[in-house]
Amino acid sequence: MKVLGIDIGGSGVKGALVDTESGELLTERHRIDSEHKPSPKEMAKIVKTIAKHFDWLGPIGVGFPGVIYGSVIKTSANLHEDFCDCDAVKLFSEATGCPVSLVNDADAAGLAEIRFGAGRDVPGKVLLLTLGTGVGSALFHNGRLCPNMELGHLPIDGKSAEYFVSSTARKRRDLSWKKWGKELNGYLQILEEILWPELIIIGGGVSAKYEKYFKRLDTRAKLVPAASLNTAGIVGAALWAAEQKSS
Ligand code: BGC
Repeated sequence: MKVLGIDIGGSGVKGALVDTESGELLTERHRIDSEHKPSPKEMAKIVKTIAKHFDWLGPIGVGFPGVIYGSVIKTSANLHEDFCDCDAVKLFSEATGCPVSLVNDADAAGLAEIRFGAGRDVPGKVLLLTLGTGVGSALFHNGRLCPNMELGHLPIDGKSAEYFVSSTARKRRDLSWKKWGKELNGYLQILEEILWPELIIIGGGVSAKYEKYFKRLDTRAKLVPAASLNTAGIVGAALWAAEQKSS
């Protein structure tokens, strides 16, 4: 099935047409900047522009960095606060005239990694973390997703863990890879104590630089970088939409 996958992020909104059987992108990615924290109305325009760019009238899967309950966004830690309680399926489908499905961005990336990437055919518990503007998490058991895990908001010293260990936090705090790696290790060990995953996949922009900090990470679980560096969010959002259609 051909689906337009859109990944809404804190720095950019990216979309591409995806073949959901193979997980391959059928087009180049089209990216629109979102650093100015667009309001829901402005975001609807961005999503419409991306659909228009591809002359697309079919199904769209949208990944958003917040808790998703059905068609409604419940939290928006790093994007505009007006997204909280916004019916984004209604908003984006009215803007584009296309059927829209909505999923958490990390859950989307996890779906792509489980189906086509580093988590493919892995039995047991798999945890994917995306380290970007925030920290996203997706937990799978025998390939089945437990949605909206939000482990980036685990409280550490009165703040969300992502305040310390996201990729943005590394830059904001001006930490060396070594120092940041040590903090990330502490966070991973807390997660391991609670969840006991058998495999941990690290995704997001920093997964490409894994050689700089993996040596600081001492996990019980096997630890691997994501196979797909910057397309998992798009592919997974498209997969989610395809699965909603077929269920
Ligand atoms: C959000 C999550 C999201 C993650 C990565 C967090 O701040 O709460 O829903 O998956 O950032 O974008």
